[in-house]
Amino acid sequence: MDKMLSELFEIAQELLDGSQDTGRLERLTPGELVQRVPLGLGPKGVPMDQVLDRMRQVVRYTPKTSSPRFFNQLFAGCQQAAAAAEMLTGLLNVSMYTYKVAGPMILIENEVLGRMCRVASFPDGFGIAVPGGSMANLVAMVLGRNKALPNMRAEGSDGRRMTFYVSKEGHYSIVKNAGILGTGRDNVRPIDSDDRGRMCVRALQAAISKDIEEGAVPCAVVATMGTTVLGEFDPLREVAEVTRRHNIWLHADGAYGGTMLLHPEGRKKFDGLELADSLTWDAHKAMGIPLMCSMLLTRDPHVIRECMGETADYLFQGDEDLLNPGTRSLQCGRRNDTFKLWAAWLNLGDEGWAERIGKQLHLAAYAADRIRSEPRMSLCQDPVSTNICFRVDGLAADEACTALQEAGEALIGHGTVREEVVFRLVTVNPELLETQLDTLFEAILRLL
Ligand SMILES: Cc1ncc(COP(=O)(O)O)c(C=O)c1O
Repeated sequence: MDKMLSELFEIAQELLDGSQDTGRLERLTPGELVQRVPLGLGPKGVPMDQVLDRMRQVVRYTPKTSSPRFFNQLFAGCQQAAAAAEMLTGLLNVSMYTYKVAGPMILIENEVLGRMCRVASFPDGFGIAVPGGSMANLVAMVLGRNKALPNMRAEGSDGRRMTFYVSKEGHYSIVKNAGILGTGRDNVRPIDSDDRGRMCVRALQAAISKDIEEGAVPCAVVATMGTTVLGEFDPLREVAEVTRRHNIWLHADGAYGGTMLLHPEGRKKFDGLELADSLTWDAHKAMGIPLMCSMLLTRDPHVIRECMGETADYLFQGDEDLLNPGTRSLQCGRRNDTFKLWAAWLNLGDEGWAERIGKQLHLAAYAADRIRSEPRMSLCQDPVSTNICFRVDGLAADEACTALQEAGEALIGHGTVREEVVFRLVTVNPELLETQLDTLFEAILRLL
């Protein structure tokens, strides 16, 4: 056991130190990979030291999202206290359905959810931890649907068309979820955005009026708080005026942007949040918490239980429901995803979060300035968060991203903005240095 632990510790240390590694990224094709690291399973086992050796090789070739050459996703880097808690989480291996099985972890989860609700202007609110923002959005859509059609949960559809609304810049999970919910992918109305990529409220109103006239039942409007490509925020207060007028559930999808609530400037983007019914907030994105760590928060503390609650006498034994989150969660057995967020919050406090986000925003501003100062590059628009979308004259962004990856220079993605394929740089790792951004831009310009 000692030997195993010291080997594991060594691998973990290499990984943590590797976050400062500036060496090129190593990438093998799937064919090369299986040649170098045998991955197949067979009838005979292998001794533990060989298992560890194989694991070390797998780790070596796994993309390092903490690398200063990683700009590809809405997450990067790893908050230290969270990383430590995550390791213990796996070893503890409790399931988060009951206090009986998870003990203090349930109180920790309640503390985290309560704190997030207060930050989100839901002072009496509550929530659940879910495996990702897509699932948080799914639960929000269920809540909205059940508010619009209270008999739906028990009896199923009464045959009327059920509609959802999200801007064209919104996340694809909304459409996917409508397919899962059985309300129909085609019944998600893609609402036009303005010239910055924010939901156009007049178009929203028009779409809802038309659907009502035609006998449909609007179930929820999803306002995106931090759009996936541009990082923009829908005008929540104006959207809330429309949803209030028609008594429709208002969900704020802050999977990405929710973290901005912890920054004095970022918070301003959430004007009107107290009027929303629910909020998705992924701590595994901009907060640097290892995946998964995602919350669905609601203003009404009871609504999730009312819409999803079930009982099982073999499982929920003793203790009040508050201490048995399994009575209201999406899952039965459930991984503990909140211990790591609690550890990070304990470590940073609200002030530490604000500082961390400040660093991310500073890096975004630095990158934007750098693009402005280079005649061959141009911004699609001034960034409001950590997403910087830009083009380079003479380079196709998609091909350039592949070339950067193949050369081991950087992992960076591309997205489509106003029908143009552009680079999407995300400065979500606060450990990045300005010089590392310079290195990226130099590598891009070398492709010309
Ligand atoms: C706005 C938005 N909502 C939801 C999601 C889905 O989050 P997850 O990947 O945690 O399912 C994303 C992911 O990028 C997102 O950008």
